Amino acid sequence: MAIFSFFYLALACTSFIATPVLSCNSCIHRSKLAYHHSKRAIKAGACRYGSFAARLNGPNVAAATPKLYRDGVGCSACYQIRCLDPDLCSRTWQKIVVTDIMTNNQTDFMVPKHTFATLALPHKGAALQRKRIVDIEYERIFCVYGQNLTVKVDESSRYPDYLAVEFLYQGGQTDIVNVDVAQVGHFEWKYLTRKDGSAVWSISNPPSGDLQFRFVVTSGFDGYMLWPEKAVLPPHWKAAEKRLFDTGLQINQIALDGCSNSCDLNQRV
Ligand SMILES: *[C@@H]1O[C@H](CO)[C@@H](O)[C@H](O)[C@H]1NC(C)=O
Ligand SMILES: *[C@@H]1O[C@H](CO)[C@@H](O)[C@H](O)[C@H]1NC(C)=O
Repeated sequence: MAIFSFFYLALACTSFIATPVLSCNSCIHRSKLAYHHSKRAIKAGACRYGSFAARLNGPNVAAATPKLYRDGVGCSACYQIRCLDPDLCSRTWQKIVVTDIMTNNQTDFMVPKHTFATLALPHKGAALQRKRIVDIEYERIFCVYGQNLTVKVDESSRYPDYLAVEFLYQGGQTDIVNVDVAQVGHFEWKYLTRKDGSAVWSISNPPSGDLQFRFVVTSGFDGYMLWPEKAVLPPHWKAAEKRLFDTGLQINQIALDGCSNSCDLNQRV
């Protein structure tokens, strides 16, 4: 049976977070929403989850503007959006998960066409789609999965010299800001780097043997080191393997609502 423990270190953000914690997560922001016709956000999003993106929130994934995408740190973040057009929209919240980046500077998110249509009042879907772009409000929310944080070995990996991984089912309202890997039983941690603004973390010359991971996760202004003491990858991890590897760790930290002073008041509803 696997030994399993976490070490939580509450750390002041200024002392260890290299990039400042961005935006007040609890704010409701006003923005606009557009849709795209292709399935690009699901299959080929910049986060590079590939077809696994659909496991995060079914088809309701989104491409986010660079300020929310944050060079890949914003991959997997969950938001709820609702449309503000009283004639066309139902005002119910729709959850979306970021899997892609967009550069259109008129909106904060782009979603697949059918996600856009879910915002409409009955029989108003076609009329809403004709508008192409609508006013919305949105809020970052915490992600809930009935799953542990899970590792997928990326197709770009080349055993044994180069290991690249993605993490699926990142719960809570968190950012993964550091990932280390070590051989189980050894404490020679080596760090992975986030690759090309995606959700892929990689390392050249990774340790050998059974591998374990350690994470630094931030949530609002808090940082945590999460260290499931468990073998996650087997010694002969393979590239392009369809299998997923359970870290035994559920991330569920939620940002405290302690940052309302830093909200952009112009964006408040
Ligand atoms: C938005 O993008 C367009 C086209 O790239 C550019 O001309 C415009 O200045 C941009 N607007 C803002 C507010 O950045
Ligand atoms: C998550 O990991 C824990 C600890 O290893 C395990 O007991 C639990 O069954 C896992 N949960 C799921 C949903 O796989």
